[in-house]
Amino acid sequence: MKSQSIQTKIDIYAFEELSDDIKSLINSAKAAVLTSYSPYSEFKVGAAVLLENGMIFSASNQENVAFPSGLCAERVAMFYANAQQPQTPVTAIAIAALTKGDFLQTPISPCGACRQVLLETETRFGNFIDIYLFGNKEIFHIKGVQQLLPLCFAHF
Ligand code: THU
Repeated sequence: MKSQSIQTKIDIYAFEELSDDIKSLINSAKAAVLTSYSPYSEFKVGAAVLLENGMIFSASNQENVAFPSGLCAERVAMFYANAQQPQTPVTAIAIAALTKGDFLQTPISPCGACRQVLLETETRFGNFIDIYLFGNKEIFHIKGVQQLLPLCFAHF
């Protein structure tokens, strides 16, 4: 029998330690929570996608009375960016979540379905996407969607 471990590296930052570009991206994700339509969960999520050409597309979670018909902020933002700029690689995504009027202290991480969608964009353009997960106390940075989705179903 052989064993293998897969590790995920998470760099943890304070907001002040980040570059101006990434601060702007995170601020876009934080602002996007205001557009969340989440009357059922009352959990507001914002996501902002940065493209290689400097454009930022931000979006939020959109819920529906038929619960599975709703969509997470990450997928709304990523599909929006890809639909507007289908030829432009995505370099980073930032995610922020607000509940009961406050941003979370510790970040949330994308759900499994969102990871699969983010991975598709990463694979499609062939570059690592920097993932920034915003928390009031700390910000997680993960280099590449594959780290969030080990043993992923890849293109063949
Ligand atoms: N949600 C997101 O938008 N992104 C995540 O990473 C986790 C969950 C949304 C889905 C739903 O509208 C609400 O948050 C509660 O799960």
